[in-house]
Amino acid sequence: LTTAVPYTDELAWPEGMRPFQTVDLETQKDPFAHYAWMREHAPVLRTRANGKDVWFISRYDDVRAALRAPKVFSSTVVDPIPLVFLTLFDPPEHNRLRQVVASSFTPKAVAVFEDSVRAYAAEYLDELLAAGGGDVVDGFALRITMATISSLLGVPATDFDQMKYWSDDVSSYFGQVARQAPPTEGAEEGAEEFFAYLLGNIERARRDDNGSVGAHIGRLLQDGVLTEREAKHFCAFLFVAGHETTTVLLANAFREFSENPGLLERIRNTPTDAKAFVEEMARYRGTVQRLSRKTVQDAEVAGVTIPAGDVVILLPGSANRDHNKFDNGDVFDIDRDTSGHLGFGHGIHSCLGQHLARLEGAVGVELIAKKVAAVTARPDNPIQFVTGGNLANTGPSYFPVDL
Ligand code: HEM
Repeated sequence: LTTAVPYTDELAWPEGMRPFQTVDLETQKDPFAHYAWMREHAPVLRTRANGKDVWFISRYDDVRAALRAPKVFSSTVVDPIPLVFLTLFDPPEHNRLRQVVASSFTPKAVAVFEDSVRAYAAEYLDELLAAGGGDVVDGFALRITMATISSLLGVPATDFDQMKYWSDDVSSYFGQVARQAPPTEGAEEGAEEFFAYLLGNIERARRDDNGSVGAHIGRLLQDGVLTEREAKHFCAFLFVAGHETTTVLLANAFREFSENPGLLERIRNTPTDAKAFVEEMARYRGTVQRLSRKTVQDAEVAGVTIPAGDVVILLPGSANRDHNKFDNGDVFDIDRDTSGHLGFGHGIHSCLGQHLARLEGAVGVELIAKKVAAVTARPDNPIQFVTGGNLANTGPSYFPVDL
């Protein structure tokens, strides 16, 4: 059966559509027409990378089923695991690592951040408004998410710039390792500096007993529950996962408001709808458009046998638009039932930080609607998209607007 599956560059794609590829920044900016075509004509599709087949899965039922079957679809896509990043582990290691921090990420645990997120968001938005607008990524989204993940880890606000620099380094390094590409010069050294800083930080947070997750991880290290390597990589991963994704979510909110001004008024009048807005955004334009897995055994997907040992790229961003699951999936509609969307993943690896992301998103969206009369994109200064980092994240890296 396997041989019947076409390679992406052999397929007759519709006019003007280039073959879907693992890393194609042009397509990633707006992959949804590709996804729709793939779900219809090539729900299992393959390409070649490093001399091996790599598979793309685009339908909702298939993506969800794979996420529910970690014994078949392993998260350990690189072996040995180079960095202790939770997403790369399978059970039982995965359970152990996730359990020791899980209590810090429950809805109740993250609710303590609401007031500070609100204060940050108001401050940054007021600054943007006073300037008549600006880049909402650097000026708003990134500042909120950096401030929040930093206070979660107990990192002092004075170190944000350095943290961002390191974090981008480690994110690229992670992407390179995960893709088995040679790391760029200095990436590994940059990552080591970041780890050393984080280690110093959790030690200080523990001594100060400042109630942060950083302090908690510091105690786990002291008690021998986590090794030094685990503790420092873990913090780095939380830092990267905790701000890149949510930054894109908030930037996409501005994008939606600029294209759909009626929504600003709607949320202004009914602030509680901010939650539905965020949930729909996670479905409609999720930050994480691809999830990598490796088959442990031959796997059956949509009537195709994917051989053991191949990398499979699941496309949650496509699954979330599948008309068989979501009526008019290509329409942004905050009144729809979004339950079951895969924007935060699904199954044992489903996003640990999702309640924090929802909180930051809802507070941000609510405040934008409250304070901003209109969001106007600048035609002569267009939006730009994430090109660096680990490339799993897709969305604006620069979005200047008039407010
Ligand atoms: C995992 C999305 C925000 C921490 C994931 C996964 C997705 C995701 C799709 C599953 C990965 C997989 O199955 O391989 C998002 C989105 C976010 C967001 C769209 C924001 C809009 C956050 C935040 C944090 C965080 C704020 C931390 C503070 C994590 C962690 C994992 C994870 C630790 C790994 C869980 C595991 O492997 O068990 N996220 N995330 N995320 N996320 Fe998020």
